[in-house]
Amino acid sequence: MKSSRREFIKAGVVGGVVVAAGVPQFAGAGVSKNEFKPLNILVLGGTGFLGPHMVREALRRGHTVTLFNRGRSNNSLFPDLETIKGDRDNGLDGLKGRTWDAVLDNSGYVPRHVKDSARLLAANTHRYVYTSTVSVYADFDIHNLESSPLATIADATVEEVTGETYGPLKALCEKRVAEEIAADQLTIIRPTYVCGPGDHTDRFSYWPIRTRKGGEMIWPGKPGDVIQIIDVADLANFTLDCVDHKISGIYNAVNPAGKYTMGDLLADSQAVSGTTVDPVWISEEFAYEQELTGGRALPIWNPKHGKDGGSGTFSGEAARAAGLHNRPERETVRNLLTWWDAQDDERQANMKAGLTAAREEELIATWKAENASRV
Ligand SMILES: NC(=O)c1ccc[n+]([C@@H]2O[C@H](COP(=O)([O-])OP(=O)(O)OC[C@H]3O[C@@H](n4cnc5c(N)ncnc54)[C@H](OP(=O)(O)O)[C@@H]3O)[C@@H](O)[C@H]2O)c1
Repeated sequence: MKSSRREFIKAGVVGGVVVAAGVPQFAGAGVSKNEFKPLNILVLGGTGFLGPHMVREALRRGHTVTLFNRGRSNNSLFPDLETIKGDRDNGLDGLKGRTWDAVLDNSGYVPRHVKDSARLLAANTHRYVYTSTVSVYADFDIHNLESSPLATIADATVEEVTGETYGPLKALCEKRVAEEIAADQLTIIRPTYVCGPGDHTDRFSYWPIRTRKGGEMIWPGKPGDVIQIIDVADLANFTLDCVDHKISGIYNAVNPAGKYTMGDLLADSQAVSGTTVDPVWISEEFAYEQELTGGRALPIWNPKHGKDGGSGTFSGEAARAAGLHNRPERETVRNLLTWWDAQDDERQANMKAGLTAAREEELIATWKAENASRV
């Protein structure tokens, strides 16, 4: 199976994904809304996963928000907000002749779309924040800084977003937006796996939700294997900080590199859920043998020996110096489980990532049998 880290971080971004309602309000960074000058903000893509958190944080700060999307995802989420219906693919007419203090571009996957909106809005806004991704980096086996080389695509006219093209296309989107928006008005944010309430990919969610069921549970690699995430509310706060404080530049949005591990995720999941599991730590080799890597079977985790070995070590220091605050991951786990409990039975019965109970049982039996014969 051909797969890559790009598939991991791509987040199921293609297509109209319906996110179940119930994304909770969050308290923000503890600042009062009176500290912010009220602004008019346009959010391109405010109804998916990240978007609602940004919209709510903007509203909490006293800003006025206009939404722009096709009307396919979460239509009833913000009935009181002005929504301009349109498609980024040649359907931007509703944005013409309007001005906004800031634009949050949260739905830009195709370079042509990003260029079109940035060109149209350049003269009509003072700040353009483009949500990119760490998948833009050319190599995932190194400690990536914002200045590290970016992935390229041989054919720049390709518009199909796949696991392979997602990162290079996002890199090209960054280039296109920079061609249209002045550097002192442009912010590019590169998140890694975004985690928390509303996540429709279930990648991070799988681990605490599965832990809560107890029993023998497969954990990949070693407890010390580093992983990296960004809490969705921390990302929303930072995005709005970039608007309110006129922060320009390029920023990886990640938790501290090399600090959070699979073992920590297990401990946090157990502590929050109040359940203890019997972890079965399978080796990288076994994960490869069983084709569990590079896909959604063991989400968030990547083998440490190989092309994605550095995927837990993106530097987030520039963002933290600019004000990014990372809450303790245990809080992300807690907020996630609270949100999950509010989802309906059908949603809860249909996890989008992780091992099914039957597959996990089968893998544990195979792993134990092989280990017994190796001893
Ligand atoms: N999720 C992650 O872990 C992650 C990680 C790194 C980077 N990112 C980046 O974060 C951004 C948001 O991701 P997400 O997971 O929140 O996405 P999402 O849940 O799929 O939401 C996409 C939003 O964009 C709108 N949209 C999509 N295509 C559109 C089009 N052609 N025209 C107009 N509106 C459109 C959708 O509304 P309609 O369907 O109603 O049009 C929805 O509001 C993306 O740029 C992604 O690359 C995400």
